[in-house]
Amino acid sequence: MEDISLNGSLAGSSNGFHLPSKIAVVATQRQMRGIAIVGLGYWGPNWVRNFSQANGIERVVCCDFSRERRDLIKSRYPSVLVTENIDQVLNDPKVDAVVVATPVNTHFEIAIRCLKAGKATLVEKPLATSGEQAEVLIRMARERDLTLMSGHTFEYSAPVRKIRELIGSGELGDVLYINSVRANLGMFRRDVNVAWDLATHDISIILMLLGEMPIEVSCQGESHYHDRVEDVARLTLHFANNVIAFVHVSWLDPNKIRHTTIVGSRKMLVYDDTAPSEKVRVYDKGVTKHPYYDTFGNFQLSYRNGDVNIPRIEESEPLKVECDHFVDCVKRGISPNSDGHSGLRVVKVLEAADRSLKNHGQPMPIAAGLRI
Ligand SMILES: NC(=O)c1ccc[n+]([C@@H]2O[C@H](COP(=O)([O-])OP(=O)(O)OC[C@H]3O[C@@H](n4cnc5c(N)ncnc54)[C@H](O)[C@@H]3O)[C@@H](O)[C@H]2O)c1
Repeated sequence: MEDISLNGSLAGSSNGFHLPSKIAVVATQRQMRGIAIVGLGYWGPNWVRNFSQANGIERVVCCDFSRERRDLIKSRYPSVLVTENIDQVLNDPKVDAVVVATPVNTHFEIAIRCLKAGKATLVEKPLATSGEQAEVLIRMARERDLTLMSGHTFEYSAPVRKIRELIGSGELGDVLYINSVRANLGMFRRDVNVAWDLATHDISIILMLLGEMPIEVSCQGESHYHDRVEDVARLTLHFANNVIAFVHVSWLDPNKIRHTTIVGSRKMLVYDDTAPSEKVRVYDKGVTKHPYYDTFGNFQLSYRNGDVNIPRIEESEPLKVECDHFVDCVKRGISPNSDGHSGLRVVKVLEAADRSLKNHGQPMPIAAGLRI
């Protein structure tokens, strides 16, 4: 093992991309020769594809109970190793890291086993099913000096990163509100409701864009097909300074929708992730408040309808960016952008949403200690 000086990396950071820091951090160069993917259902094969093509990865081990899934993966990627037994993954000295892509209610148990076995661990979203579980994972990873990453894929998508850049540069002015819709017909899950499945993406995007935690969260939803597993939900996140975000998620919609509107005090932005190109549009539209000088205290509003700008965005597969980032973080021993703390924050918002759901949409506070 070789010590390297990472001048400027946010090794201890719990949020944000690796921005320049004044503190020089010493991290350890580690091996990343082999990786295992546990869970080869709908999503796991995307990880297999990316790691099979990743530079420097000599060994890809794929694990699933299902023989059918293992056979499918082996037929697509003949060079990977397949196993039904996770112990084989955990005892393999050439496997340095594991991606957990199993159903959400198994994340904690499997991630604990990976960390205990000394493997760097990336857990698909959401990190765990409770804040307590997420905290245990964070502590274990820290004590063992292992990388723990949350699979917040959209934080690695080029349009989302462009939006973050636009907000950061002040282009939109102050963000006033966000409205995000993520809907489709299916895929129904039994272990978690639609908020834990789909809103995880929107929450991670919103927290990253605003750089802060909500003060309180309310949520309403309904289950129509599986008892107490809501298939449609609407979350409201209240932030400081009257900033508000709405998230509508549904497994019961005739159309695939991934649409986010961000209204700023200067400009407004629309992000349509289903658009084949030009996913982000910035509208020079807004409202100006003019005082009436003859009637003290009164005012009138004028509306601005300016140009629409479509920023140039270099598209890349978010999962590839995420995959490369994980490998880089493991090798350099640095904290990922979507680290365990980032996963914990999303889980805390989802927990508050659950409490609100059970209380007919009453707003639930978020502990101040978690603010970013
Ligand atoms: N980041 C994204 O955009 C994104 C998209 C879809 C799903 N996901 C996440 O990926 C994960 C998996 O979702 P999915 O849709 O692929 O689920 P899925 O039900 O289609 O597949 C899960 C697979 O895990 C296997 N499995 C379960 N327990 C196992 C164990 N202990 N050992 C080995 N294999 C086991 C099952 O046999 C199954 O093949 C979830 O956490 C989900 O939230 C992320």
